[in-house]
Amino acid sequence: MKKTILITGGSGLIGKSLTELLLQSGYEVFHLSRNHRAIPGVKVFRWAPEENEIDTACIQGVQAIVHLAGENIGARPWTNDRKKKIIESRTQSIRLIYNLLEKHPEHQVQSVISASAVGIYGDRGDEILTETSSPGSDFLAITCKEWERAVDEAKGLRVVKLRTGVVLSNAASALQKMDKPVKLGMGSSLGSGKQWMPWIHLDDITALYLFALENETLTGAFNAATSNPLTNIDLTRAIASHLNKSLWAPAVPAFILRVILGHMSAIVLNSTKTSNGKIKEAGFRFKFDTIDQALKNIYAGEKSS
Ligand SMILES: NC(=O)c1ccc[n+]([C@@H]2O[C@H](COP(=O)([O-])OP(=O)(O)OC[C@H]3O[C@@H](n4cnc5c(N)ncnc54)[C@H](OP(=O)(O)O)[C@@H]3O)[C@@H](O)[C@H]2O)c1
Repeated sequence: MKKTILITGGSGLIGKSLTELLLQSGYEVFHLSRNHRAIPGVKVFRWAPEENEIDTACIQGVQAIVHLAGENIGARPWTNDRKKKIIESRTQSIRLIYNLLEKHPEHQVQSVISASAVGIYGDRGDEILTETSSPGSDFLAITCKEWERAVDEAKGLRVVKLRTGVVLSNAASALQKMDKPVKLGMGSSLGSGKQWMPWIHLDDITALYLFALENETLTGAFNAATSNPLTNIDLTRAIASHLNKSLWAPAVPAFILRVILGHMSAIVLNSTKTSNGKIKEAGFRFKFDTIDQALKNIYAGEKSS
């Protein structure tokens, strides 16, 4: 009999794609959401992590939890209040579920598969970063450390943390932010352009969550990005080439990005060159391992103007 999976943040980019894949694969899917939006084939339970509210029925019959919920990191400026929300939407939310599990020791949950991010390593130049590399110390790194620490508070459960690179898809706002100026003929690299950006196609990160759910020997942290991280300039060039656009505009200097974005500029200026050896050794195979494969798939059918 197929299992029941409870997804937090199931209404987001990765959550929607994972829900579809799980339903196609015969799983029963529950969502924990702050909204009551109906999703075909899915039981949606309401929670309000900020108010410590959760529908206690959400864990009934559940064997695994996928924790994707979290305030969007790049949506708004990082005020102190915003920073608190970014962290607590990831940490207090999973703790709310763990408290519920403790109150119901008869529960059947065995595994927690959680999102994390390559931002845990901070700004590291050309260093090759494995899961045993030390974490960084900027806000993104602190967020990821707190997030992973909260997820690790699970008692007696298998925990997997997927340190995800930028997810590329035609629905992903990250790629839209990168390709919009290119489409307008004004694309350029950011800062030195030499910063490494680990990336992963949406289909691969979705498949990786399923892989982590189904491979019950998998535990701990895994870098979730392709074997071919790109520098910002190479990624921008690849996007331009797939859209038949030329890049003529000068690079946007790092100091201007720092003035405009403040600390948030770390999202685009940090250099993180991750290795995915650990997840490949565990048997995961990427469908889109090169940027050409990924962009060809994403832009298929899209005509440049
Ligand atoms: N996409 C990427 O490139 C990328 C890269 C690295 C890591 N990640 C991480 O992977 C996870 C999933 O990514 P995604 O791109 O699918 O995210 P997403 O599209 O922004 O969706 C996240 C979901 O989290 C829920 N949420 C938002 N704010 C919340 C809050 N304050 N409290 C509780 N829930 C909240 C929302 O669900 P409801 O509105 O239904 O409650 C939302 O649909 C995120 O934690 C993200 O940081 C993503």
